[in-house]
Amino acid sequence: MYSNFVKWLDERLMVTPLWRDMADHPVPEQANPSERVSAFVYCFGGVTFLLIISQFITGMFLALYYVPDIVNSYNSTKYIMTHVTFGSWLISMHNWGSSLIIIMVTLHMLRIYWMGVYKKPREGNWIIGVTLLLLILAFGFTGYLLPWDEKAYFATQVGVSFLKYVPFIGNALVKILQGGNSIGADTLTHFFALHVLFLPALLLTFLAFHFMLIRRHGISGPY
Ligand code: HEM
Repeated sequence: MYSNFVKWLDERLMVTPLWRDMADHPVPEQANPSERVSAFVYCFGGVTFLLIISQFITGMFLALYYVPDIVNSYNSTKYIMTHVTFGSWLISMHNWGSSLIIIMVTLHMLRIYWMGVYKKPREGNWIIGVTLLLLILAFGFTGYLLPWDEKAYFATQVGVSFLKYVPFIGNALVKILQGGNSIGADTLTHFFALHVLFLPALLLTFLAFHFMLIRRHGISGPY
């Protein structure tokens, strides 16, 4: 009965061919750690992806309690730390995760650069990768303000003051991001919306293109 239902569902959703397509795809010898130990460097991209999934999950739980306005944000963060079950774990994982992602994505990029994998036909994927890196940094920048403590406020002021130097659009960019001429209530709302809606949507889109191209080109060996 159970297996009939699974078969019925599988025929409609066609999960098996999709799964087999992924599971039967051979790992090239140079990227297989059981063939050569140095192949562990090929894991950096995958580990970055796992950390991103962990950030999504912990972030979703944090959003259950975090209040994105200047009156309550600081206290809601403190409340998560002290009163929510596993709250301090969630915040710590989210916090450490953000730093680890930057370390892993840098190592991944160094692997690509060191092996010369950015060369034809993978230049497009390198450019998509650079966009992913900028998105990851934007996640860190917008997330840092959310606890709305002094450190967050002044660090954001320093970060925003750099953005002024972006050619042509610098001043407009700062005004739009801040939601005015200084950091205040609108900045927090803007950063929150960017952190939990705009950036995740962009990241998932670019990741889909990144993975699609990896699948098309295959994992390359060192050039
Ligand atoms: C969100 C960040 C990123 C994730 C999750 C990610 C994930 C991955 C994964 C899983 C692979 C397969 C092989 C491997 O891991 O080495 C890969 C390959 C690749 N990545 Fe990334 N990546 C990210 C950022 C970047 C960045 C910043 C660059 C460069 C600027 C980049 C350029 C490439 C290129 C060119 C390949 C193809 C490698 C090959 O064909 O051997 N990626 N990426």
